[in-house]
Amino acid sequence: MDKKPIPILVIDDEENILNFISKALRKEGYEPHAFTDVRLATAKLPAIRPQVVISDIVMPHINGFEVLEAVKRNNVDTNLILITAHASLESAISAVRGGALDYLVKPFELDELLVAVRRALGQKRLSTAFPSIEKKTQSMYQMHNLIGTSSKMQEIYKLLEKIAKSDSTVLVVGESGTGKEMVARAIHYNSHRKDKPFVSINCASLPDPLLESELFGHERGSFTGAFTTKLGLLELAKEGTFLLDEVGDMSLAMQSKLLRALQEREIKRVGGIENIPIDVRIISATSKDLRAEIEKKNFREDLFYRINVIPVFLPPLRERKEDIPPLIQHIASLLKEKSGIGKEIEFTPDGLGYLMEYHWPGNIRELENILERLYMLADKKGLSKEDIIKILSSELKSEKSMTQGGTMLIELKNETEHFERKMIEKALEDAGGNKLQAAKLLHCSRQTLQYKVRKYNLD
Ligand SMILES: Nc1ncnc2c1ncn2[C@@H]1O[C@H](COP(=O)(O)OP(=O)(O)OP(=O)(O)O)[C@@H](O)[C@H]1O
Ligand SMILES: [Mg+2]
Repeated sequence: MDKKPIPILVIDDEENILNFISKALRKEGYEPHAFTDVRLATAKLPAIRPQVVISDIVMPHINGFEVLEAVKRNNVDTNLILITAHASLESAISAVRGGALDYLVKPFELDELLVAVRRALGQKRLSTAFPSIEKKTQSMYQMHNLIGTSSKMQEIYKLLEKIAKSDSTVLVVGESGTGKEMVARAIHYNSHRKDKPFVSINCASLPDPLLESELFGHERGSFTGAFTTKLGLLELAKEGTFLLDEVGDMSLAMQSKLLRALQEREIKRVGGIENIPIDVRIISATSKDLRAEIEKKNFREDLFYRINVIPVFLPPLRERKEDIPPLIQHIASLLKEKSGIGKEIEFTPDGLGYLMEYHWPGNIRELENILERLYMLADKKGLSKEDIIKILSSELKSEKSMTQGGTMLIELKNETEHFERKMIEKALEDAGGNKLQAAKLLHCSRQTLQYKVRKYNLD
């Protein structure tokens, strides 16, 4: 395959570490640009336009946080992974708060690094998280940028228009990749809060103490390493919108704390005594069936009623197949713009039919991924079914029984779980039981794998 390697900037003042990381990245097919001099590295940011930056936190003259600042200043569409030799919660919090996606503690395993890089590549880029770019973002999330001509989506747009005018609490429910975050942003940017912050936190990605401190902030000295007082994100989102992403993955302990904050509309920082009022619109998102989670005692019923004032259900793509052609067109034009290579991608009727037949378990995100691969690798314009299979080197497996009916969902879920379990077993076996390695093989985070291992009793 002649896919263009992904540029990654690596900064560390220790040459041997730098070489070690670069070698590993090159072996994985990335294109590392290594620098021992931070100033030189940041000067090269606009030219290299790395998709990921890996930087040591403590270096002579300048530190990793300044690299972060430089990335923001240059509006480079990238994600940052910071490396630290001192595993303090404090630097982890500052790293996450500053916008770094991940941090690695020295000495780290190579696998850990590669998993972090994969995750960084899979995440939305840093740039969308910063106010200077928020302005551009506003126009991106106009309602008309939500693509979908199906009647199901048309109804959703009408609902979203109403929601945007209100200040109500919203729960967005939908399978992975159906556009939950996009909907949350569209609500924000079409509401009277649009010039205030849009802040989101992924409740599944942070351990409890970090999540608590992120949400509510902490007072100086409230725990080892809390050198300064930090404001929580709920406080920082003042007068804006707050997205609690993957809310169904929050621990019961955190759910109680969140419930209290939402009921009282005020928070206390960790270790603090002052009550601080919060003024945010809360949008929660989940791909889980929260009612089922309540049954299983994994989710608090009272919190559910608190966050589920206006529910928005995003249907999976396979239930609105007429949206596939306009989405393809939309994504193809974005790809053309993003790649800057002016290439077009088009399908023959049988190629399009093939894409429409597929059941898209990963929904629009999966459609984007497949189209990007086709876009980058195709060397002709009208792609047929045969061309698609050849380029992807595999078939898009359609669910034979994807018709309609209530039992279908359960069947699909069982099938998916069965398949997922098999994949995990295989990956664990191939990795000789090493979870980090297995997560790498599965292109997922270690936390996700750990969760699934528990779910399927594979320990
Ligand atoms: N209606 C839409 N029109 C155009 N693009 C869309 C639409 N819905 C989603 N997308 C795109 O699909 C991708 C996935 O959307 P998003 O991240 O909002 O989904 P999600 O439900 O939050 O997914 P996950 O569960 O994986 O977090 C994004 O790149 C988004 O821009
Ligand atoms: Mg999401």
